[in-house]
Amino acid sequence: MNILILDDEPVIREVLRAVLERNGWETREAGTASDGLALLSRETFDLLLLDLMLPDRSGMEVLAEVRTRYPELPVVVVTAYTSVESAIAAMREGAFHYLPKPFRNDEVVHVVKQALEKRRLVAENRALKAKLEKGGGGELSELVGRSLAMEKVFETARQAAAARSTILVVGESGTGKELVAKALHRLSPRAAGPFVTVHSGALPPDLLESNLFGHTRGSFTGAVADKKGLFKAADGGTIFFDEIGTVPLETQAKLLRVLQEREFLPVGAVEPQRADVRVIAATNADLSKMVQEGRFREDLFYRLSVITIPLPPLRERKEDIPLLVEALVARAASENGRSIPSVTPSAMKALFDHDWPGNVRELENALERALVLGHGVIDLDQLPDSVRRSVPRPNLLPQDGLSFKDAVASYEKSLLSAALHRAGGVQKRAAELLRLKPTTLNEMLKRYGMLPRDARESDPVLPAQRLERSTY
Ligand SMILES: Nc1ncnc2c1ncn2[C@@H]1O[C@H](COP(=O)(O)OP(=O)(O)OP(=O)(O)O)[C@@H](O)[C@H]1O
Ligand SMILES: [Mg+2]
Repeated sequence: MNILILDDEPVIREVLRAVLERNGWETREAGTASDGLALLSRETFDLLLLDLMLPDRSGMEVLAEVRTRYPELPVVVVTAYTSVESAIAAMREGAFHYLPKPFRNDEVVHVVKQALEKRRLVAENRALKAKLEKGGGGELSELVGRSLAMEKVFETARQAAAARSTILVVGESGTGKELVAKALHRLSPRAAGPFVTVHSGALPPDLLESNLFGHTRGSFTGAVADKKGLFKAADGGTIFFDEIGTVPLETQAKLLRVLQEREFLPVGAVEPQRADVRVIAATNADLSKMVQEGRFREDLFYRLSVITIPLPPLRERKEDIPLLVEALVARAASENGRSIPSVTPSAMKALFDHDWPGNVRELENALERALVLGHGVIDLDQLPDSVRRSVPRPNLLPQDGLSFKDAVASYEKSLLSAALHRAGGVQKRAAELLRLKPTTLNEMLKRYGMLPRDARESDPVLPAQRLERSTY
């Protein structure tokens, strides 16, 4: 902490410096307004102690200048008891506090501490705001996304985090369910408490239950001591059920009881135990369908899905891809101790055109691999075959309500047009590109009225310009 003492009386400066340095703060001194302002422009200060009676300029003037030039710098005004009015005027001008002369040492320390604390809060606030603006999510900033779909996710998450109700996060594999669950915990009043994840998937029911609820010594062979379960471990925090759909039916009944009564029975125990936990569950399965099929308890489903957060698959929010690429490449680079590579436009286009069935995780893996393979540049060559070969999908459902037949025709026409363009108007080459017989291509061009009038019958080789005029 660096504090500037601006006062024309050497004795006062001396006393202030002694008090402040005893408290571990660094100080600089100036005796005139111009010296003080010069110091302010050269160094960064955390606080200004300002005498209102300066030889060269009025303290109020200096205060006004400091407020405009360094709006975040707290100012404590030092004045004589007799000039309370000017102190009040200074506060109105934005001084943080005033220190009446003569002052006691502990008063100085107290006021300075308060002012520095305020400075810290202002800085913290600003950092938070910057984070919010940059990542789009604030506390959710690990979650990259600016698309409308993701904004909706952030919105629901912010609202839901504070409540105690159970939250169900639904989405395809790799869409960020676990990331959202953790963000919900961090945003909640339980953030300081534990976050415990349950992977129910691979476990047989009895093992899962002893993991969840704990067991008493001797309750089964091998239970040599009392064991605390995951519910107890999550006391005061959040318990996250990853892939809740894999919890066996019999365990589901017990889970429902915990959700309703907030208590559970360790395996082999007679006394139920209590734990104050918030439950978040995630699934990529269609739970309502599982309910219909009798594989998931309906009552548990309703209990869990009080608040549901659906995560959109990446292919439905492609506008987030550039932002994600930037964030994931940077993350991968720092994890692998590399500098951040550039991504060529053609690589970016391929990333954009791919459909990402594995969602963000697939993108993350592709980029990490590319980072390791490429030397400072990510180009097509570094991308997996599946990505490199992706073809942009035609707009499958046209907005203007084309019929199926018209939509197919429109796609055919754009293929023909693209091939002819690439072939410089030479039909034979265009046919090769599309692996069509030249006669078939010619028939299609005729059918779609894509041949210039005078070339329809005779000339199979068309000048490119003429073609361009007539193509779509
Ligand atoms: N919006 C996002 N911004 C940044 N990274 C993301 C985002 N969504 C997912 N990720 C990253 O993608 C990877 C997969 O995310 P996560 O494990 O949360 O997905 P999941 O839905 O739980 O997947 P699964 O169903 O396969 O378990 C993680 O490395 C995560 O950091
Ligand atoms: Mg997961």
